[in-house]
Amino acid sequence: MIIANFKSNIVDYQIWVRDFMNSCPPVEFYVGMAPPFIYFFDNYVSRLEFWSNRDESDHDMWNMHIGAQDADHSSGSRTGAISVGMLEQHAIAFVIIGHSERREFFHEDNDLIRKKIHAVNGSKLRPILCIGETKEENKEGITKDVLKNQLEVIDGLELGKNFTIAYEPVWAIGSGLTPEPKDINDIHKYIKDVVQSISANNLVPDVIYGGSVTNKNAKSFFIEEFVDGALVGGASLDGSTFGEIVNIWELIYNTSETR
Ligand code: PGA
Repeated sequence: MIIANFKSNIVDYQIWVRDFMNSCPPVEFYVGMAPPFIYFFDNYVSRLEFWSNRDESDHDMWNMHIGAQDADHSSGSRTGAISVGMLEQHAIAFVIIGHSERREFFHEDNDLIRKKIHAVNGSKLRPILCIGETKEENKEGITKDVLKNQLEVIDGLELGKNFTIAYEPVWAIGSGLTPEPKDINDIHKYIKDVVQSISANNLVPDVIYGGSVTNKNAKSFFIEEFVDGALVGGASLDGSTFGEIVNIWELIYNTSETR
C-alpha cells in the first residue's frame, strides 16, 4: 500500500496526474492520494479516481483511492470541521488520523485521537493511524514505550480488518534522515504485536512506514518483511517521483506471496 500525503502544499493536479500516469502503469495493490479537502473534487483528481474504479477491464486500473489527511469525530455545531460522516457520504476511501503535524501544530492529544479513531473505525473508511517518536525520545531509547502509549487509543477496540498504522518517526519527517531499514522492520513487528494484543479481536494490522521515503531509498525499506508499504510526503508532490515509488513497490509486491 503506497499513500501520497500532500499535506498543505499547493499542487497543480493536472500536471501531477499526467506525470503520475506517464511514470506508472496500472497496479493491483492499494495506492492512495490524500489531497487537502478542497481538492477532492478537482477535475483531475476525480477523473483519476474514476479511471481507477471503472470495471471494464482489470488491466487498466490504477487502484487509486482518495483519502483525507484528517477528520473530525462528530458532526453538528463544530464550525469549520469536516466529519467522518461527511467523508463517508462522499465515498472517501481512507483517512489519516494523528499525524505528528496535527499533534504538534494543532495540539491533538491521545484523548482527541481516540475519539477520531473510534469514529473512523466504525465507518466505511480505512483508518491510517500515525504514531512515532521524537528525536529526543529516540535518543533516550524509549521509542517502544512512546509507541505503546500512542497505541493505547485502540485499547479494547474491535478493529476493522483494514485498520492501518503508519510508523512515522517525527525526526524522519521531511528531514532526509531515516532509521535503518532493519530497525524499521523491528519496530513494525513490535507494532503488529502490540495491536494484536490490545485490540478486542487480536487484529494484526498493516503497518506502513513514513518519513523521508524517496524513489532512492524506498527499496531498502520495502524489502523488509514487516513493511507493508509507505506514507510519502515530500516525494509525493511530484507525480513522476511518486509513480516511481509505486513502481518499486510493484516490483517487491510481485515477488512476494504475502503482499
Ligand atoms: P515526508 O513526510 O515523506 O516528507 O518525510 C511523510 C509524512 O509526514 O507523512
